[in-house]
Amino acid sequence: MRKIGFIGCGHMAKALIKGLKSNNSYELLGHDRNSKNIAWLKQEKIPFYTLKEVCHEADILMICVKPKDMYDLCLEMKAYISKELKIVSVAAGITLKNLQDALSEGKVYRAMPNIGAKHNLGITSIFSYEELNEILDIFNYLGKAIVVEDEDKINLHTSLIGSAPAFYFEIINEFEHRLSELLPDNVSKRDLTLLFLTSLISAIQNGEDLEDLIQSIKSKGGTTEAGLNHLYEKDFINIFSEAIDAAKDRAAYLSMD
Ligand SMILES: NC(=O)c1ccc[n+]([C@@H]2O[C@H](COP(=O)([O-])OP(=O)(O)OC[C@H]3O[C@@H](n4cnc5c(N)ncnc54)[C@H](OP(=O)(O)O)[C@@H]3O)[C@@H](O)[C@H]2O)c1
Repeated sequence: MRKIGFIGCGHMAKALIKGLKSNNSYELLGHDRNSKNIAWLKQEKIPFYTLKEVCHEADILMICVKPKDMYDLCLEMKAYISKELKIVSVAAGITLKNLQDALSEGKVYRAMPNIGAKHNLGITSIFSYEELNEILDIFNYLGKAIVVEDEDKINLHTSLIGSAPAFYFEIINEFEHRLSELLPDNVSKRDLTLLFLTSLISAIQNGEDLEDLIQSIKSKGGTTEAGLNHLYEKDFINIFSEAIDAAKDRAAYLSMD
């Protein structure tokens, strides 16, 4: 059984741990400094290890601290790291070179997962110069892993896959607000939202072409066309795409030394 140690057990690590818990090939260990997250580890029956212990015990380390905490952590842990230890950083904006320089030893990987990993529906981009199979197995268990050839692409992934769920949630949030106008308070808006979104997913799962789907709803002079024309006039499609670029540019800025 391979041991995976998590350093920093906040939002992202929790999602990864929840996704991996059902896999008997892995033993999970945790380390954190935050008492709430330490209590969470206890509740989930994940053993707590000190930093030194987790570095010595684990075959693979997942570093899940915020980028601002990364270099202090690396300084603290570098004395405990062996050459063979596989170290995966999920931090946005910390380049592989900076990670390697900060740790000196170990085989380093950059992974950019998203919160979908919690339900094994995550999408993770991975970049490393090391052999990737074992790390790919982990992230493929958590959903789908994609190897990127160019480290800069991690920034696009951070935006398109990591941040964009929040853009969709904003749209769904507005959809639910408008449902409130339609429905009395005692009818569950969330149930309707789920049914509505499931119907969209089902059409996508059937492999139907998105343009054909739009055309199948739109008729000349009809209601859908009126709504779509408003979106086009307001440049909604470009605005959405520009939001992806804004998040990508921010990730690139954070990657600068
Ligand atoms: N959240 C996402 O959807 C997402 C997606 C992709 C990538 N990521 C990446 O995941 C990383 C973690 O994000 P998060 O949202 O999970 O952060 P978080 O909820 O703040 O969790 C980080 C945890 O690490 C602890 N920590 C920090 N430095 C430590 C140290 N030296 N020793 C022990 N514990 C330490 C923090 O303790 P304190 O609370 O005391 O600081 C906190 O409990 C980030 O680098 C982010 O870029 C997140």
